[in-house]
Amino acid sequence: MKLVERDRKHLWHPYTQEKTAPLPIPIVGAKGVWLETEDGRKLLDGVSSWWVNTHGHSHPYINKALQQQAESLEHVIFAGFTHEPAVRLSEMLAEILPDGLDRVFYSDNGSTAVEVALKMAYQYWRNKGQERRTFVALERGYHGDTVGAMSASDESAFTKPFKDLLFTVLRADAPHALECERCEQVCDTSCASSLESLLEKHATDTAAVIVEPMLQGAGGMIVWQSGYLKKVRELCDRYGVLLIADEVLTGFGRTGRMFACEHAAISPDIMCLSKALTAGYMPLGVTAATERVFEAFYDDDRLKTFFHGHSYCANPLACAVAIANLELFELENTLDRIGAINRKFHEYGQTLSQFESVRDVRIIGGVLAFELAAADGGYLADIGRDFYLEFLRRNIVLRPLGSVMLFMPPYSIKDSEIEWVFESISDVLLVFERFGVARVDES
Ligand SMILES: Cc1ncc(COP(=O)(O)O)c(C=O)c1O
Repeated sequence: MKLVERDRKHLWHPYTQEKTAPLPIPIVGAKGVWLETEDGRKLLDGVSSWWVNTHGHSHPYINKALQQQAESLEHVIFAGFTHEPAVRLSEMLAEILPDGLDRVFYSDNGSTAVEVALKMAYQYWRNKGQERRTFVALERGYHGDTVGAMSASDESAFTKPFKDLLFTVLRADAPHALECERCEQVCDTSCASSLESLLEKHATDTAAVIVEPMLQGAGGMIVWQSGYLKKVRELCDRYGVLLIADEVLTGFGRTGRMFACEHAAISPDIMCLSKALTAGYMPLGVTAATERVFEAFYDDDRLKTFFHGHSYCANPLACAVAIANLELFELENTLDRIGAINRKFHEYGQTLSQFESVRDVRIIGGVLAFELAAADGGYLADIGRDFYLEFLRRNIVLRPLGSVMLFMPPYSIKDSEIEWVFESISDVLLVFERFGVARVDES
């Protein structure tokens, strides 16, 4: 029986309407930016395998680190025990994270990194003798699929079925890239004023503000001005609430800096990391906190313990690949490479914005997003799906967010590969503008 037939018998895929979705494509291997299909095609991984890959698939340096670690210690319970990869990674992170984030709590994916952050902020205040039940998050925010992370996320097709299950979160306006470009004062006026008035009213009941700094990802790849992020930090300080930076997507170079908070030279009180942390190899989550947060839990009273953990906390294999990932950033000057990719994106962005069918182009670091003008229907917009299928036919994986197409390749992508993707994007847009569809059947 073929792989896809076996898949149909038992599997249930994420974010997939199994009745109507096209059959999944069997992948038998991957190298660099290329995924190899069972029937011998090579597909360019234009979304870094759900925004996780950094240095390309099957990188020999990371493979070796993983293999070596597997030979010495594959896993051990992390309560009551410790090990070299967990300690080494925490040291490396403390070195490169924004100032003050010196405590590392491990979990196993982006959503759990966020759950940990929310619970940590909530219990921080309890341990200090204050009941603070409120969180403030932003419009268009997305923080993951577990119940707390969904509560912090803005309402969408993802959260709709679970609406009654979620806790209430106050929601402030987020800056929109289009508006930001037009409004130089934006950070002091419309956008930040909504957060300010929420904090003015609710500060003493608010545990934390949670944001995706500089780039709101799943909400539509919304790029901020750094001034807004500065303002968020200022307001949290002024009103005495914690700031959680969810850098699950933005961490490890995706916005051009190692961490997006660096664009505004701010440090949050708590930061969530996952995705590119392990170069796209293994699930691992990190919630980093300041000593001030840690100290609220450090006590003779056992009830002040942070009672949270997962079976695979600090998995040594995952920590070992994360270490190799960070070493490669140094060895291969990855941040410089992301800068070069960004320049190519900006050059092509000029061409892209000339297309009538493109409503907006948004670029930051190694992320290029463009929103199609003729689209409606949010995340479920048909046009995004049609474009996705057409790019797949052309051997490029560009999974959209509704009508927002995005290109976020592994940093190891070559210039010639980027140019080839740009040519394909222009071709598809030309067809779309002429015929109103992503593809004209040649038969
Ligand atoms: C900003 C942000 N936070 C959290 C998550 C959830 O991460 P995971 O899919 O690993 O649970 C995502 C996933 O896209 C994300 O973009």
